[in-house]
Amino acid sequence: MNVSARHQDLLKKTFLDYQSTEEFMANPLIVSRAEGLYYWDVEGRRYFDGISGIYSTFLGHRHPRIEEAIRRQWEKLAFAPPMHGTSDVTLDFVEKIGSVTPGDLNFVKAFSGGSESMEAAIKFSRQYFKQTGHPSKYKFISRYHAYHGATMGAMAASGTGERKTPFEPQPPGFLKVFAPNHYRDRFSDWDECNRFAAQQFEDVIINEDPETVAGVIIEPISNTGGVITPTEEYFRIIRDVCDCHNVLLIYDEIITGFGRTGAMFAAHTFGVTPDIICGSKGLSSGAIPLGALMARQDMGECFYEQGENFAHGHTYAGHPLACAVGIAVVDEIVEKRLDENAREMGEYLASKLEGLRDLGVVREVRGKGLLRGVELVKDTTSMEPFPELGKALKRTALKNGVILRVDPNWFAVVPALIIQKDQVDELFDLIEKSLKEALTQV
Ligand SMILES: Cc1ncc(COP(=O)(O)O)c(C=O)c1O
Repeated sequence: MNVSARHQDLLKKTFLDYQSTEEFMANPLIVSRAEGLYYWDVEGRRYFDGISGIYSTFLGHRHPRIEEAIRRQWEKLAFAPPMHGTSDVTLDFVEKIGSVTPGDLNFVKAFSGGSESMEAAIKFSRQYFKQTGHPSKYKFISRYHAYHGATMGAMAASGTGERKTPFEPQPPGFLKVFAPNHYRDRFSDWDECNRFAAQQFEDVIINEDPETVAGVIIEPISNTGGVITPTEEYFRIIRDVCDCHNVLLIYDEIITGFGRTGAMFAAHTFGVTPDIICGSKGLSSGAIPLGALMARQDMGECFYEQGENFAHGHTYAGHPLACAVGIAVVDEIVEKRLDENAREMGEYLASKLEGLRDLGVVREVRGKGLLRGVELVKDTTSMEPFPELGKALKRTALKNGVILRVDPNWFAVVPALIIQKDQVDELFDLIEKSLKEALTQV
């Protein structure tokens, strides 16, 4: 698309998330309208939204149930005084989220997004240990290549070097291990590789001194790492390690929560319940800023029993309009069984993506439910990464009217949970066409 002189001028007066204006101008996209699975740009051209916003518009764009929830709430109450009280709809939200979380993760607080929820989880964990007789537990172990958010604590827990170095030094107490993919070429067996990677957490905990370690933070499926999908056993080992050393297990389910992986949470998909889950994105279907901290109820209760409060808050945490949207989205996911649809359509999508192996440049198709990633290589013997192909794919996909997340050694396909079979076909055809065209350009 062409970028008007006015927009070019305005682009110089703002910044785009994690990309330079130069990079943006190479593949510009300025949208002005969206409906269901599609965007339209300012020139009226349609795009298939292959990544549901940014893994967020689970019900598609501008779902009528969300519009109705906002309108109804707007007519009653659009703000509540956070330091003097709360609102009925904010408490309804607590109840609703508690009804779908795994285990006893019924202590719920709404925030304005993913980073805020992660930041709260870090502070909540530290204060929890201070109040339960372990004041020296403050460190967190997370993984390289992970992304947990842009704020200082969430960034420190993230493992994406290039997004962090401009802001050095990082806060102390954030340690990293590698996800299983890092070791895959050293093991002939993926299960064995996962066992080894899971064990790294215990090695670090023991060597740091368990009495200094508060939590392990992991995305069940790591997007920025390239849709890394561990085995179920990986999570069981980490759960045992955390239990053994009194370390909290924190899942960043900001991408994977609320049906994305084929069950309400990835905790269900992988069969291992953490102590804390952070959610966002799909929780409001991208319609309004919303995130949530979901912790074990006894952890929350220990604050009350000791007459303490969690020393934390935000003006917009638990905002009535956002909470009304969250309730409507969860109801829609539960009533329409969109997690099941994600599982079925996800398997169908994966089987189609597997077909791309015929092009000779696909190393792996990974993921669960409607969170799928395809790793690109120069050839399947050398398995050398193929970033040039990814870069070309970004161009051809936009030209062909489909939005994908391209990294550039892999690309992700993460459509809305409402997608149906013929729409998966349409999306796949656009991907295949774009990848074939990209191959002619490298
Ligand atoms: C896994 C994960 N965690 C945390 C975040 C941060 O969320 P937000 O951008 O809403 O602050 C993101 C955002 O992309 C994410 O993908």
